[in-house]
Amino acid sequence: MQNIDQIRTELLAEIAAAATADDIERVRVAALGRKGSVTELTKTIGALAPEERRAAGALINVLKDEIAAAIEARKTAIETGALSARLARERIDVTLPARPETEGRIHPISQVVDELVGIFAEMGFAFAEGPHIETDEHNFTALNIPPEHPARQDHDTFYLPEKADGTRLLLRTHTSSVQIRSMRKAQPPIRIIVPGRTFRADHDATHSPMFHQIEGLVVDETTHMGHLKGCLIEFCRAFFDVDDLPVRFRPSFFPFTEPSAEMDIGCSREGGGLTIGKGADWLEILGCGMVHPKVLANCGIDPARYQGFAFGLGIERVAMLKYGIPDLRTFYESDLRWLRHYGFAPYDVPTIAGGLTR
Ligand code: DAH
Repeated sequence: MQNIDQIRTELLAEIAAAATADDIERVRVAALGRKGSVTELTKTIGALAPEERRAAGALINVLKDEIAAAIEARKTAIETGALSARLARERIDVTLPARPETEGRIHPISQVVDELVGIFAEMGFAFAEGPHIETDEHNFTALNIPPEHPARQDHDTFYLPEKADGTRLLLRTHTSSVQIRSMRKAQPPIRIIVPGRTFRADHDATHSPMFHQIEGLVVDETTHMGHLKGCLIEFCRAFFDVDDLPVRFRPSFFPFTEPSAEMDIGCSREGGGLTIGKGADWLEILGCGMVHPKVLANCGIDPARYQGFAFGLGIERVAMLKYGIPDLRTFYESDLRWLRHYGFAPYDVPTIAGGLTR
Protein backbone atom coordinates (compact mmCIF):
# COMPACT_ATOMS: atom_id res chain seq x y z
CA MET A 1 0.00 0.00 0.00
CA GLN A 2 1.61 3.09 -1.32
CA ASN A 3 -0.57 5.29 0.86
CA ILE A 4 0.65 3.78 4.15
CA ASP A 5 4.29 4.50 3.44
CA GLN A 6 3.51 8.05 2.50
CA ILE A 7 1.42 8.67 5.61
CA ARG A 8 4.15 7.09 7.75
CA THR A 9 6.87 9.33 6.27
CA GLU A 10 4.79 12.46 6.68
CA LEU A 11 3.71 11.71 10.23
CA LEU A 12 7.22 10.78 11.40
CA ALA A 13 8.49 14.07 9.97
CA GLU A 14 5.76 16.01 11.78
CA ILE A 15 6.50 14.19 15.01
CA ALA A 16 10.19 14.95 14.70
CA ALA A 17 9.41 18.62 14.03
CA ALA A 18 7.10 18.99 17.06
CA ALA A 19 8.79 21.32 19.54
CA THR A 20 6.22 21.71 22.31
CA ALA A 21 3.67 19.61 24.15
CA ASP A 22 0.95 21.41 22.15
CA ASP A 23 2.62 20.57 18.82
CA ILE A 24 2.84 16.89 19.65
CA GLU A 25 -0.78 16.81 20.80
CA ARG A 26 -1.86 18.36 17.49
CA VAL A 27 0.06 15.66 15.57
CA ARG A 28 -1.53 12.96 17.73
CA VAL A 29 -5.06 14.20 17.04
CA ALA A 30 -4.31 14.60 13.31
CA ALA A 31 -3.02 10.99 13.12
CA LEU A 32 -4.83 8.92 15.73
CA GLY A 33 -7.85 11.08 16.62
CA ARG A 34 -11.38 10.21 15.46
CA LYS A 35 -10.82 11.90 12.13
CA GLY A 36 -7.05 11.34 12.06
CA SER A 37 -5.26 10.12 8.96
CA VAL A 38 -4.44 6.69 10.43
CA THR A 39 -7.98 6.27 11.74
CA GLU A 40 -9.35 7.18 8.30
CA LEU A 41 -7.06 4.55 6.81
CA THR A 42 -8.59 1.88 9.06
CA LYS A 43 -12.01 2.83 7.72
CA THR A 44 -10.88 1.99 4.15
CA ILE A 45 -10.36 -1.68 5.04
CA GLY A 46 -14.07 -2.42 4.71
CA ALA A 47 -13.94 -1.37 1.07
CA LEU A 48 -11.23 -3.85 0.18
CA ALA A 49 -11.71 -7.27 -1.30
CA PRO A 50 -12.16 -9.84 1.53
CA GLU A 51 -8.82 -11.60 0.73
CA GLU A 52 -6.89 -8.30 0.99
CA ARG A 53 -8.42 -7.13 4.28
CA ARG A 54 -6.28 -9.24 6.61
CA ALA A 55 -2.95 -8.11 5.20
CA ALA A 56 -4.03 -4.47 4.99
CA GLY A 57 -5.39 -4.54 8.55
CA ALA A 58 -2.08 -5.91 9.83
CA LEU A 59 -0.10 -3.22 8.01
CA ILE A 60 -2.32 -0.44 9.33
CA ASN A 61 -2.03 -1.78 12.90
CA VAL A 62 1.74 -1.78 12.62
CA LEU A 63 1.60 1.81 11.38
CA LYS A 64 -0.72 2.78 14.23
CA ASP A 65 1.56 1.25 16.86
CA GLU A 66 4.62 2.78 15.28
CA ILE A 67 3.11 6.27 15.18
CA ALA A 68 1.76 5.98 18.74
CA ALA A 69 5.19 4.93 20.00
CA ALA A 70 6.93 7.75 18.11
CA ILE A 71 4.48 10.28 19.55
CA GLU A 72 5.02 8.95 23.08
CA ALA A 73 8.80 9.07 22.70
CA ARG A 74 8.72 12.61 21.34
CA LYS A 75 6.38 13.71 24.13
CA THR A 76 8.75 12.37 26.79
CA ALA A 77 11.69 14.06 25.10
CA ILE A 78 9.83 17.40 25.00
CA GLU A 79 8.84 17.14 28.69
CA THR A 80 12.36 16.26 29.85
CA GLY A 81 13.77 19.06 27.74
CA ALA A 82 11.27 21.53 29.19
CA LEU A 83 12.17 20.45 32.72
CA SER A 84 15.89 20.78 32.13
CA ALA A 85 15.38 24.17 30.55
CA ARG A 86 13.32 25.28 33.53
CA LEU A 87 15.87 23.96 36.01
CA ALA A 88 18.62 25.80 34.18
CA ARG A 89 16.55 28.98 34.00
CA GLU A 90 15.46 28.94 37.63
CA ARG A 91 18.80 28.01 39.11
CA ILE A 92 19.65 29.94 42.28
CA ASP A 93 23.24 30.54 43.23
CA VAL A 94 23.06 30.18 47.00
CA THR A 95 26.64 31.38 47.35
CA LEU A 96 25.76 34.86 46.12
CA PRO A 97 26.07 37.51 48.83
CA ALA A 98 22.81 38.83 50.28
CA ARG A 99 21.43 41.84 48.48
CA PRO A 100 22.70 45.03 50.08
CA GLU A 101 19.29 46.66 49.71
CA THR A 102 17.87 44.27 52.34
CA GLU A 103 15.31 46.26 54.31
CA GLY A 104 15.75 45.00 57.89
CA ARG A 105 18.19 46.52 60.36
CA ILE A 106 19.78 45.09 63.49
CA HIS A 107 18.91 47.18 66.55
CA PRO A 108 21.97 48.81 68.18
CA ILE A 109 21.29 46.86 71.41
CA SER A 110 21.45 43.53 69.55
CA GLN A 111 24.51 44.70 67.66
CA VAL A 112 26.36 45.74 70.82
CA VAL A 113 25.41 42.49 72.59
CA ASP A 114 26.88 40.58 69.63
CA GLU A 115 30.03 42.69 69.78
CA LEU A 116 30.46 42.26 73.54
CA VAL A 117 29.80 38.53 73.45
CA GLY A 118 32.14 38.26 70.44
CA ILE A 119 35.01 39.91 72.32
CA PHE A 120 34.59 37.85 75.49
CA ALA A 121 33.98 34.60 73.61
CA GLU A 122 37.34 35.15 71.95
CA MET A 123 38.88 35.41 75.43
CA GLY A 124 37.39 32.05 76.42
CA PHE A 125 34.19 33.14 78.15
CA ALA A 126 31.07 31.02 77.66
CA PHE A 127 27.63 32.53 77.03
CA ALA A 128 25.10 32.22 79.88
CA GLU A 129 21.60 33.50 80.57
CA GLY A 130 19.11 33.65 83.43
CA PRO A 131 15.42 34.46 83.97
CA HIS A 132 14.00 37.99 84.16
CA ILE A 133 11.73 37.03 87.05
CA GLU A 134 13.98 36.24 89.98
CA THR A 135 13.92 35.35 93.65
CA ASP A 136 15.07 37.81 96.27
CA GLU A 137 17.74 35.25 97.14
CA HIS A 138 19.37 35.26 93.68
CA ASN A 139 19.01 38.97 93.06
CA PHE A 140 20.05 40.21 96.51
CA THR A 141 20.66 37.93 99.49
CA ALA A 142 23.16 35.49 97.99
CA LEU A 143 24.99 38.48 96.48
CA ASN A 144 25.67 39.66 100.01
CA ILE A 145 22.85 42.23 99.95
CA PRO A 146 20.84 40.97 102.94
CA PRO A 147 17.39 42.35 103.90
CA GLU A 148 17.62 45.94 105.16
CA HIS A 149 20.96 46.44 103.40
CA PRO A 150 21.10 50.06 102.20
CA ALA A 151 22.18 48.97 98.70
CA ARG A 152 18.69 47.55 98.17
CA GLN A 153 17.30 51.07 98.08
CA ASP A 154 19.34 51.96 95.03
CA HIS A 155 17.74 49.24 93.01
CA ASP A 156 14.13 50.56 92.80
CA THR A 157 12.87 47.03 92.52
CA PHE A 158 9.70 45.92 90.75
CA TYR A 159 8.08 43.26 92.96
CA LEU A 160 5.46 40.72 91.97
CA PRO A 161 2.46 40.20 94.28
CA GLU A 162 3.30 38.48 97.56
CA LYS A 163 2.83 34.72 97.66
CA ALA A 164 1.05 32.74 100.42
CA ASP A 165 4.35 32.07 102.18
CA GLY A 166 5.11 35.80 102.32
CA THR A 167 7.86 35.74 99.69
CA ARG A 168 7.82 37.97 96.64
CA LEU A 169 9.38 37.35 93.29
CA LEU A 170 10.87 40.36 91.51
CA LEU A 171 12.10 41.55 88.13
CA ARG A 172 15.86 41.22 88.33
CA THR A 173 17.51 44.58 88.92
CA HIS A 174 20.86 43.46 87.50
CA THR A 175 22.38 40.52 85.65
CA SER A 176 24.47 39.74 88.76
CA SER A 177 21.72 37.27 89.77
CA VAL A 178 23.05 34.95 87.07
CA GLN A 179 26.39 34.81 88.93
CA ILE A 180 24.59 33.00 91.73
CA ARG A 181 22.72 30.65 89.40
CA SER A 182 25.90 29.76 87.54
CA MET A 183 28.01 29.15 90.63
CA ARG A 184 25.31 26.99 92.18
CA LYS A 185 25.05 24.94 89.01
CA ALA A 186 28.68 24.28 88.17
CA GLN A 187 31.96 23.99 90.05
CA PRO A 188 34.94 26.17 89.04
CA PRO A 189 36.60 26.90 86.74
CA ILE A 190 33.79 29.23 85.64
CA ARG A 191 34.16 31.81 82.90
CA ILE A 192 30.87 33.27 81.69
CA ILE A 193 29.47 36.32 79.97
CA VAL A 194 25.79 37.09 80.59
CA PRO A 195 23.89 39.69 78.56
CA GLY A 196 20.26 40.39 79.31
CA ARG A 197 17.37 42.64 80.31
CA THR A 198 17.19 44.24 83.71
CA PHE A 199 14.44 46.29 85.37
CA ARG A 200 14.28 49.22 87.77
CA ALA A 201 11.40 51.56 88.66
CA ASP A 202 13.15 54.60 87.30
CA HIS A 203 12.18 56.64 84.28
CA ASP A 204 13.73 59.85 82.99
CA ALA A 205 16.02 61.07 80.20
CA THR A 206 18.87 58.81 81.32
CA HIS A 207 16.95 55.93 82.92
CA SER A 208 14.53 53.44 81.46
CA PRO A 209 12.47 50.96 83.55
CA MET A 210 13.81 48.22 81.28
CA PHE A 211 17.43 48.30 80.20
CA HIS A 212 20.23 45.88 79.42
CA GLN A 213 23.37 44.83 81.22
CA ILE A 214 26.15 42.41 80.57
CA GLU A 215 27.77 40.54 83.42
CA GLY A 216 31.10 38.75 83.48
CA LEU A 217 32.27 36.18 86.01
CA VAL A 218 35.52 34.28 86.36
CA VAL A 219 36.15 31.84 89.21
CA ASP A 220 39.13 29.53 89.52
CA GLU A 221 42.10 28.91 91.81
CA THR A 222 44.56 31.45 90.45
CA THR A 223 42.74 34.47 89.00
CA HIS A 224 43.72 37.76 90.66
CA MET A 225 43.13 41.49 90.29
CA GLY A 226 45.82 41.71 87.58
CA HIS A 227 43.75 39.39 85.41
CA LEU A 228 40.67 41.53 86.01
CA LYS A 229 42.51 44.64 84.89
CA GLY A 230 44.17 43.01 81.89
CA CYS A 231 40.92 41.47 80.73
CA LEU A 232 38.87 44.67 81.04
CA ILE A 233 41.53 46.89 79.47
CA GLU A 234 41.78 44.49 76.55
CA PHE A 235 38.00 44.46 76.25
CA CYS A 236 37.63 48.28 76.24
CA ARG A 237 40.34 48.70 73.63
CA ALA A 238 38.75 46.11 71.38
CA PHE A 239 35.21 47.41 71.87
CA PHE A 240 35.99 51.07 71.28
CA ASP A 241 38.60 50.16 68.69
CA VAL A 242 41.27 52.45 70.21
CA ASP A 243 44.59 50.68 70.73
CA ASP A 244 46.08 53.08 73.27
CA LEU A 245 42.80 53.92 75.04
CA PRO A 246 43.63 55.46 78.43
CA VAL A 247 41.93 53.68 81.34
CA ARG A 248 41.87 53.98 85.09
CA PHE A 249 40.43 51.96 87.96
CA ARG A 250 38.86 53.88 90.85
CA PRO A 251 38.15 52.24 94.22
CA SER A 252 34.42 51.75 94.68
CA PHE A 253 31.93 49.67 96.61
CA PHE A 254 29.66 46.79 95.68
CA PRO A 255 28.38 44.33 98.30
CA PHE A 256 29.28 41.33 96.11
CA THR A 257 32.92 42.23 95.39
CA GLU A 258 35.92 42.99 97.57
CA PRO A 259 37.88 44.96 96.59
CA SER A 260 35.56 46.78 94.20
CA ALA A 261 36.39 49.26 91.46
CA GLU A 262 34.90 51.34 88.74
CA MET A 263 36.65 51.56 85.41
CA ASP A 264 36.90 54.83 83.48
CA ILE A 265 38.09 55.43 79.95
CA GLY A 266 39.78 58.58 78.67
CA CYS A 267 37.73 61.02 76.63
CA SER A 268 37.52 64.59 75.49
CA ARG A 269 34.46 66.80 75.79
CA GLU A 270 35.98 69.72 73.94
CA GLY A 271 33.64 71.68 71.71
CA GLY A 272 30.55 70.08 73.26
CA GLY A 273 31.13 66.72 71.56
CA LEU A 274 32.55 63.55 73.00
CA THR A 275 35.65 61.84 71.65
CA ILE A 276 36.64 58.55 73.19
CA GLY A 277 40.31 57.74 73.56
CA LYS A 278 41.92 61.14 73.93
CA GLY A 279 41.72 64.28 76.03
CA ALA A 280 41.75 65.08 79.70
CA ASP A 281 38.35 63.80 80.82
CA TRP A 282 37.21 60.45 82.18
CA LEU A 283 34.07 58.52 81.52
CA GLU A 284 32.78 55.78 83.82
CA ILE A 285 32.25 52.58 81.93
CA LEU A 286 31.73 49.64 84.29
CA GLY A 287 31.73 48.25 87.82
CA CYS A 288 33.97 45.35 88.80
CA GLY A 289 35.85 43.63 91.58
CA MET A 290 37.08 40.40 93.09
CA VAL A 291 34.16 38.11 93.94
CA HIS A 292 33.38 38.50 97.66
CA PRO A 293 34.33 35.39 99.70
CA LYS A 294 30.83 35.42 101.20
CA VAL A 295 29.28 35.21 97.74
CA LEU A 296 31.44 32.20 96.88
CA ALA A 297 30.49 30.56 100.19
CA ASN A 298 26.80 31.32 99.55
CA CYS A 299 27.12 29.25 96.38
CA GLY A 300 28.91 26.31 97.99
CA ILE A 301 32.32 27.27 96.61
CA ASP A 302 35.21 27.17 99.08
CA PRO A 303 36.60 30.75 99.30
CA ALA A 304 39.86 29.43 100.78
CA ARG A 305 40.51 27.60 97.55
CA TYR A 306 38.73 29.60 94.86
CA GLN A 307 38.69 33.23 93.85
CA GLY A 308 37.84 35.29 90.80
CA PHE A 309 36.50 38.51 89.45
CA ALA A 310 33.19 39.91 88.23
CA PHE A 311 32.09 42.93 86.29
CA GLY A 312 28.90 44.48 85.03
CA LEU A 313 28.12 47.20 82.55
CA GLY A 314 25.16 48.94 81.00
CA ILE A 315 24.66 48.05 77.36
CA GLU A 316 22.65 51.15 76.37
CA ARG A 317 25.32 53.33 77.88
CA VAL A 318 28.20 51.84 75.91
CA ALA A 319 26.06 51.69 72.75
CA MET A 320 25.32 55.43 73.11
CA LEU A 321 29.00 56.20 73.66
CA LYS A 322 30.30 54.08 70.83
CA TYR A 323 27.72 55.03 68.22
CA GLY A 324 26.97 58.60 69.26
CA ILE A 325 23.32 57.99 70.12
CA PRO A 326 22.26 61.01 72.18
CA ASP A 327 18.97 59.96 73.82
CA LEU A 328 18.33 56.76 75.77
CA ARG A 329 14.58 56.81 75.23
CA THR A 330 14.89 56.50 71.46
CA PHE A 331 16.12 52.91 71.89
CA TYR A 332 12.61 51.74 72.72
CA GLU A 333 10.46 53.93 70.49
CA SER A 334 10.50 51.54 67.51
CA ASP A 335 10.88 54.51 65.17
CA LEU A 336 11.83 53.09 61.79
CA ARG A 337 13.66 56.23 60.72
CA TRP A 338 15.80 55.97 63.84
CA LEU A 339 16.44 52.30 63.21
CA ARG A 340 17.43 52.93 59.60
CA HIS A 341 19.87 55.56 60.81
CA TYR A 342 21.39 53.80 63.83
CA GLY A 343 20.72 50.18 62.89
CA PHE A 344 23.16 47.68 61.38
CA ALA A 345 23.17 45.54 58.25
CA PRO A 346 21.71 42.11 59.06
CA TYR A 347 24.46 39.89 57.76
CA ASP A 348 27.45 41.71 59.22
CA VAL A 349 27.88 39.50 62.26
CA PRO A 350 30.58 41.09 64.43
CA THR A 351 33.68 39.02 65.07
CA ILE A 352 37.14 39.98 66.20
CA ALA A 353 38.67 38.47 63.07
CA GLY A 354 36.13 39.89 60.63
CA GLY A 355 35.78 43.27 62.30
CA LEU A 356 33.29 44.31 64.96
CA THR A 357 31.55 46.95 62.89
CA ARG A 358 31.54 47.71 59.22
N1 DAH B 1 25.34 44.81 89.46
C1 DAH B 1 25.94 46.12 89.40
C2 DAH B 1 24.86 47.14 89.03
O1 DAH B 1 23.83 46.78 88.55
C3 DAH B 1 27.05 46.17 88.39
C4 DAH B 1 28.22 45.37 88.81
C5 DAH B 1 29.25 45.95 89.56
C6 DAH B 1 28.32 44.03 88.49
C7 DAH B 1 30.34 45.23 89.96
C8 DAH B 1 29.44 43.28 88.87
C9 DAH B 1 30.44 43.90 89.62
O2 DAH B 1 29.58 42.00 88.57
O3 DAH B 1 31.52 43.16 90.01
O4 DAH B 1 25.07 48.30 89.20
